[in-house]
Amino acid sequence: MTALRRSAVAATIGMFVVVAMGSTVTNTGSGEGCGDSWPLCNGEFVPVPDRATLIELSHRLVTGVEGFLIAGLAWTAWRARRRLPDSSNRGCGRSHAIRAGARRFS
Ligand code: HEM
Repeated sequence: MTALRRSAVAATIGMFVVVAMGSTVTNTGSGEGCGDSWPLCNGEFVPVPDRATLIELSHRLVTGVEGFLIAGLAWTAWRARRRLPDSSNRGCGRSHAIRAGARRFS
C-alpha cells in the first residue's frame, strides 16, 4: 500500500470515529461535559473525570488526532502530486461526464 493510500485510509477511519463519538456525545447527553470552556475542559487542563466529561473530552481528543491525520494526508497528497499528474483532469472529466449524463436524463 502506498503512503498516500495508507494516509487516506487512516484519515477516513479517523473521521468515522470522530463522527461516531460526536453522536455518542449527543446521544448520552454529554454535550455539557466540558461546560463552555475550550480548549480547556471545565476550565482545567486535566478536569475532574465524570462520565459526561470523559465522553466529551474523548470526542475532542479524537478530533485533535484526526486533525493531524488530515494534515498528514494533505502533505502526502502534495508530495505525490507529481506521481499523479492527471488526477485533477480525471476528476474534472468525471464531473463533466456526470453533468452530461444529468442533461441526457433531464
Ligand atoms: C472534525 C471535527 C468534528 C466533527 C466532524 C464533529 C462531529 C460531531 C457530530 C457528528 C456530533 C453529533 C451531532 C448530532 O448528534 O447532531 C458532534 C457533537 C458534539 N461535538 Fe463534535 N465534531 C468535531 C469537533 C468537535 C470539537 C473540536 C468539539 C469541542 C471543542 C466538539 C464538541 C461537540 C459537542 C459538545 C457535541 C454535542 C453537541 C450536543 O449534543 O449538543 N466537536 N460532533
